[in-house]
Amino acid sequence: MNAAVVITRENGDRYFHLERLTADAPVEAFRCTVPEYAAYLREEALRAQTDHVAVTWLLREKAGGEITAYMSLVADGVKLSNAEKELHKLHYPFKTIPALKIAKLAAAETFRQKYRSLGTYMIFQAGTLARNSVNPYCAARFLTVDADIEHDAGVLAFYQKNGFVPNIEVSGKRRKTISMRLDLYR
Ligand SMILES: CC(C)(COP(=O)(O)OP(=O)(O)OC[C@H]1O[C@@H](n2cnc3c(N)ncnc32)[C@H](O)[C@@H]1OP(=O)(O)O)[C@@H](O)C(=O)NCCC(=O)NCCS
Repeated sequence: MNAAVVITRENGDRYFHLERLTADAPVEAFRCTVPEYAAYLREEALRAQTDHVAVTWLLREKAGGEITAYMSLVADGVKLSNAEKELHKLHYPFKTIPALKIAKLAAAETFRQKYRSLGTYMIFQAGTLARNSVNPYCAARFLTVDADIEHDAGVLAFYQKNGFVPNIEVSGKRRKTISMRLDLYR
């Protein structure tokens, strides 16, 4: 068997395109290590998009059109302590800084033998959308996520490897998730 291709920001375009979820997308075939994330894509994502609650982006293989990963994005604001604001050199009197939140993110387990680093590539794509598509119209300084440690404690390491840090201001209030942020401009 051929070794899996490591997907990077340099080669991703060769294999995939990012596409907004549509009613005819092949969501039924999507399989994920956490079945709840496949169920969300099948059963809820389109309604959430129609209701303007979350927009879902699919990473589709150019060769066959299959969905190899997806993410759902929502507008967000992150509350930062004075020390956290200082870290980002954000010297403003208000606490809440605008952000774009990754509300859902999942990579298809059926493609693990073929591609690696799809999750990391999706975070890169979310950052690109924030910088190029959101930014001209509306500010979003951070990417945020509530890392879902209930289903898999390892996702904390995944987000940390991708540069996210825990939000101190809101930590400890929820146990099933860890609120995290990534500064898009530093
Ligand atoms: C979380 C998820 C999207 C990561 O996607 P992925 O394509 O496997 O991640 P990557 O290959 O880009 O991982 C980057 C690094 O994080 C590590 N990592 C990824 N997932 C991890 C996990 N669950 N536990 C520990 N480490 C993990 C990888 O080993 C890799 O480390 P390396 O650079 O040292 O090799 C994927 O595992 C998934 O779909 N999980 C189920 C749904 C889910 O939990 N989503 C997150 C909700 S907040």
